[in-house]
Amino acid sequence: MVKSFLRNAIIAKYSTTKGLTMFQRFRRTRLNPHLRALVRETHVTTDDFIYPLFIRSGEGIKTEVASMPGVYQMSIDVAVKECEELKSLGLYSVILFGIPDVKDSIGSDALCEHGIIATAVREIKKAHPDMFIVTDLCFCEYTDHGHCGIIDEEKETVLNDATLEISGQQAIVHAKAGADMIAPSGMMDGIITTLREALDGAGYSELPIMSYSTKFASGYYGPFRDVAESTPSFGDRASYQMDPANRREAIAESISDEAQGADILMVKPALAYLDIVREIKDATRLPMAVYNVSGEYAMLKFAGMNDLIDYERVVMETMVSFKRAGADIIISYHAKEVAKMLKR
Ligand code: PBG
Ligand code: ZN
Repeated sequence: MVKSFLRNAIIAKYSTTKGLTMFQRFRRTRLNPHLRALVRETHVTTDDFIYPLFIRSGEGIKTEVASMPGVYQMSIDVAVKECEELKSLGLYSVILFGIPDVKDSIGSDALCEHGIIATAVREIKKAHPDMFIVTDLCFCEYTDHGHCGIIDEEKETVLNDATLEISGQQAIVHAKAGADMIAPSGMMDGIITTLREALDGAGYSELPIMSYSTKFASGYYGPFRDVAESTPSFGDRASYQMDPANRREAIAESISDEAQGADILMVKPALAYLDIVREIKDATRLPMAVYNVSGEYAMLKFAGMNDLIDYERVVMETMVSFKRAGADIIISYHAKEVAKMLKR
């Protein structure tokens, strides 16, 4: 066995002599698991997460979404029970998306105090006053055309300022229902100023706004649109969401929302945009969130289900990458799985 003879000779040489001199040996701090923990720079905890919930009317409804195994459309009673489980896992923050029974051209259900989202906030808050409830503020789930505001039919795009007006109304509906934080996701210019003025004017000056401040027109939202039933009936969202190719504009978008009074900034999607997360983090002093979106979830889920990856390991590695890039908050469909992993 020539090979093992060589091996033994080399090992013997370095165990009897001093070894090579190197001032820096990075492996010194990697040998002991406790030392590895001591020098670990990035930590993921249950405090980092916001878990998305999709709410529709009815009772006892829990419908799994084909494109996102483990993610469900739920009726309010089921969501209330779900919050019980979330709390037992140490997860106290949720972001709610409403799926209304009736959609129309302006998304009236979102403007109604008895609409799905307002009712859900009230009911969940009543059952769980200790849950932190964030509401997604947009119109695409509520409009019959699936776009994020009022449509300019000629230009086939969303009217910015008209949408601002009804966005202010939607924010008041959320606030009155008891939302703890409002998260506008429509990428309308001037949205933060509009919402801040509307909320302050109605007596909600202490209600925080987490802006989807840098949101790209992304193919990674595909599975979400199945769950939220919000696929645009014509065209796409490229006239209001950002071009994935633009880095300077991505930073300008978030910094503009900071100047308008946003309390928390966000980059969405997360995984393909971690360079943007880091750049905005370095340019702001505000807390930052990432949205680990539906397509990112589905990619790992289906790879795991097909035994192509060690699912749990890759999920954790992904969460760490968000924190390392500068995220303080992670909105993720993996939150419950991560909480369970952290418990072990
Ligand atoms: C609504 C909204 C979307 C997502 C969050 N809020 C979809 C979209 O812009 O089409 C995507 C979330 C996900 O993919 O998980 N504006
Ligand atoms: Zn939208």
